[in-house]
Amino acid sequence: MKLAQVGYAEQIQSLKKEMNAIILAHNYQLPEVQDAADFIGDSLALSRQAAETNADIIVFCGVHFMAETASILCPDKKVLIPDLQAGCSLASTINAVELVSWKKEHPDAVIVSYVNTTAEVKALSDYCCTSSNAVKVVESIPKEREILFLPDFFLGSYVAKVTGRSKMFIWPGECHVHAGIKAEDINDKMQRFASAEFLIHPECGCTSSTLYHTSTGEIDVNAHILSTDGMMRHVRESNANQFVVATETGILHRMKRENPDKAFIPVKEEAVCKYMKMITLEKVVNSLMKKRYEVKVQDHVAEKARKSILRMMAVS
Ligand code: 13P
Ligand code: SF4
Repeated sequence: MKLAQVGYAEQIQSLKKEMNAIILAHNYQLPEVQDAADFIGDSLALSRQAAETNADIIVFCGVHFMAETASILCPDKKVLIPDLQAGCSLASTINAVELVSWKKEHPDAVIVSYVNTTAEVKALSDYCCTSSNAVKVVESIPKEREILFLPDFFLGSYVAKVTGRSKMFIWPGECHVHAGIKAEDINDKMQRFASAEFLIHPECGCTSSTLYHTSTGEIDVNAHILSTDGMMRHVRESNANQFVVATETGILHRMKRENPDKAFIPVKEEAVCKYMKMITLEKVVNSLMKKRYEVKVQDHVAEKARKSILRMMAVS
C-alpha cells in the first residue's frame, strides 16, 4: 500500500469509531478499500449486514443500487456512497416505465427482479433476488404462474434452465463486464489449465454454453456457477488448489488473501467494473468527514421495494 493510502486507512479507522460508522464493501472493490472494510461480501450478504448493524452510519463501498437497498432496509440510518457516479450498466437496462409496459403484456405474471435494479423497479416487483438465491426464489413460485425475470438475460436463462420453467420471460439486459466473458475465454483457459476448477458467475455470457457442455459431458470441464460469495465459500471448502475465476477481477484480492496456498487465474484480465473502481480510500475519507453522499429513497417507493427485498432475504 502507498504511503498516502496508509494515511487514509488510518483516518478511516479513527473516523469510523468517532462517528459509530461501518464500512461495507462489495467483493469487487479495490484491494485497499476491501482491506479497510468491516465487512466484505456479495449483494445478499451486504444487505443482511446493513439490516443487522447497530452503527448510525453505513458507508457503502459498492454501486448505487446496493446503497439504495441498504437505505431501504435501514431508513433510520444514514447511508453514504463515496461516489454518486458509481452506477451499474445492468441496472440501467430497465426503468419503471418499461417494466409497467412489459407487465401490461403479462398482467398475471409474478415479477422477479435481480437486486441489480433501481428502487423504483424493485417497488414494482413481487420478489427481488440475487445471484446466490435466484434459483430458490423462482422455485418458491408455483409452477403454473408466469414469471417476468429481469434484467439479466444470462442469469435468467441459467435460472430457467436449472428450474425447468417454461413460462418464464426474460428481459434482454446484460452487464457489460460479464457479457464480455465468452465461451472462447473459457475454452482458451481450459486448454492451459485443464486440471483447474472453473468458477463462473451466472451473469457471464459463457454461462449457458458452459452449462450445456457440462450437462452433455461433451467437454470435460469442472465448472461451478456461483455468486461471488458462493465462489468464496467454494474456494475455502474445495480440495483443488487452482481456480479459473470468471467474474469481475476485484474478487481475486479476497480469494488470495483468504486462501494464500491456492492459485487463482482470472478468465479475463479486462473484466473490470469501472463503477466499482470509482470508490477510492480518499473518497471514503471524504465521505465520512463530510457525511456525503447520502442515499435516500422516497418513503412511498421504499415501502413497496422493502417488501420485495425482505422476500429475497427470507429465501437463502
Ligand atoms: P453478487 O450478487 O454475486 O455480489 O453480484 C453482484 C454484481 O453486481 C455482479 O456483477
Ligand atoms: Fe453492475 Fe456489472 Fe458492475 Fe456488477 S459488474 S456492478 S452488474 S456493471
